Amino acid sequence: MKAYHLSDRAGAGGVVRADVSKPEPDKGEVRIRVEAASLNYRDLMILDRAGEGALNGRVPLSDGAGIVDAIGSDVLQWQLGDRVAASFFRDWVTGPFKASYLPSALGGNTMDGMLAEYVVLPASSLVSVPAQLSSIEAATLPCAGVTAWHGLIARGGMGNGDTLLVQGTGGVALFGLQFAAAVGARAIVISSSDEKLARARALGGSILINYRDTPNWDAALMKATNGEGATHILELGGPGTYDRSLRSVASGGKIIQIGVLTGFGPKPDLARLQWANADIIGVTVGSGEHFAAMNRFLSDNAIHPIVDRVYGFDEAPEAYAYLRSGSHFGKVVVKL
Ligand SMILES: NC(=O)c1ccc[n+]([C@@H]2O[C@H](COP(=O)([O-])OP(=O)(O)OC[C@H]3O[C@@H](n4cnc5c(N)ncnc54)[C@H](OP(=O)(O)O)[C@@H]3O)[C@@H](O)[C@H]2O)c1
Repeated sequence: MKAYHLSDRAGAGGVVRADVSKPEPDKGEVRIRVEAASLNYRDLMILDRAGEGALNGRVPLSDGAGIVDAIGSDVLQWQLGDRVAASFFRDWVTGPFKASYLPSALGGNTMDGMLAEYVVLPASSLVSVPAQLSSIEAATLPCAGVTAWHGLIARGGMGNGDTLLVQGTGGVALFGLQFAAAVGARAIVISSSDEKLARARALGGSILINYRDTPNWDAALMKATNGEGATHILELGGPGTYDRSLRSVASGGKIIQIGVLTGFGPKPDLARLQWANADIIGVTVGSGEHFAAMNRFLSDNAIHPIVDRVYGFDEAPEAYAYLRSGSHFGKVVVKL
């Protein structure tokens, strides 16, 4: 079967095509014929580390969806032909997070990912794909969708009358925007591009701020909300955005700490948290249980993920380059 491998080979750009044998499912496992895989910002960070050589031979990309194509013994919950996606953490099926789940993240340091024609995974790590979604749409859900769901809904309790701030118009941000529209929350979007802001308005964004033209976007946000601020913030930027997020949070609000778009290690002034009686919620993607709950919500609300571009399997390096360009609005997908 065909696959991509991470590689430090000169000129490979971090990924190379590979022909490898088709995996067979063992007891408790299922084989998926992958129909589509999607990229996240994390995959760019992994690609950068591929140049160091330690990840040679690892199949990249955490996110994918496809069809159950072979079933090992002792698997009762899946049948041939079922449409499924793999959970980001193979081992975080249900219940609270445990640090021991971290090494089971797909397409990372220790586990192969989804950029291959066939993958074999434990039956317990799969979730059903919503019937209304194509495999291309479903492939966008495991990381970006579940992260926004876990932070905003499962932990953040966002609902009608709340105000959400999303930073940028990438994968996590647009899932957050769609969830806000579905629950009746007002959405504030900051972006580098007026054209992207216009598209965000069509998805339900009501306060739109260009953070290039308005670097003090926290002040603009406060003005636009009559000094109230945002009850929920998807903190995606890290050091470059954190202090402004703290200045944008409403009394009793919640900052969902997720991203590292401007680097690692923010050293925010947390005094503001105290004066706003606000909370920080740390999120690392989510469980299979979160994924299944989000899928029910997507079906109930007829939500379709925002897919920007779809690349062919041979064009996977171009898909990485497009994501890195920052031109995308929503998700970038590779079709198998
Ligand atoms: N903790 C977790 O479990 C978890 C899970 C998923 C993602 N993440 C993190 O969340 C972040 C977003 O991931 P993603 O996959 O959704 O990324 P993505 O799809 O690549 O989105 C990137 C977008 O963010 C916006 N952006 C960049 N710099 C910004 C800044 N300084 N201020 C505001 N917006 C900025 C840009 O949007 P515009 O072009 O509109 O400006 C850019 O296109 C990343 O740091 C990722 O590592 C963490």
